[in-house]
Amino acid sequence: MDGIKFTVAIDGPAAAGKGTISKAVAAHFGFSHLDTGLLYRAVGAKVLAGGDPVAVARMLDPVDLENDDLRTPAVAQAASQVAVIADVRAALVDFQRKFAARDGGAVLDGRDIGTVICPDAHVKLFVTASAECRAKRRYKELSDKGINVTPAQVLADVKERDARDSGRAAAPLIAADDAALIDTSEMTIEEAVAQAVAIVAAAKDDVR
Ligand code: C5P
Repeated sequence: MDGIKFTVAIDGPAAAGKGTISKAVAAHFGFSHLDTGLLYRAVGAKVLAGGDPVAVARMLDPVDLENDDLRTPAVAQAASQVAVIADVRAALVDFQRKFAARDGGAVLDGRDIGTVICPDAHVKLFVTASAECRAKRRYKELSDKGINVTPAQVLADVKERDARDSGRAAAPLIAADDAALIDTSEMTIEEAVAQAVAIVAAAKDDVR
């Protein structure tokens, strides 16, 4: 699809499987992928280090996203706290829209991609799962990385971020009216990826 613009917007709450699905869809179709949560995590990490949220968001460099420390629960919480600030969100819009308009197709995953960043995306998916399922998966992911947490802490963190992300005034987490819903609670990751790939493939055929 060289020279062709094709945008896939994938939104949903923490640990629903968005990241895995997004990477798999991007790899399958040869699209670029942007995990937009990393932008907020990078801002959150700099705020934890003493920075001003809006100033840090305006100065953010793509290199800041390449940092393994952005995956910790403390940074996730800081990310969701800076993400309520409208000026922080505004500072990150251009970078995301430019990425979405790349030649050859792009997949962006986050919370507001289908609603705010790319309301005209060719495909919109809303990937969700029960809070318990998501917490179980996130607990395994974090403990596999050697991060010391309890299942109860992870569930509390997931629920707290859900509430903050859904309740905020600026770009709250909500499915776009025209998004296809994928509930991964009872699915294997292979099933979820297959469903997402099928939806994108059908939409791609339509724009040919
Ligand atoms: O997706 P991830 O868990 O890495 O995102 C971290 C936090 O960043 C989320 O809890 C949310 O508050 C914020 N975020 C956002 N909008 C996006 C992506 C992430 O508000 N598009």
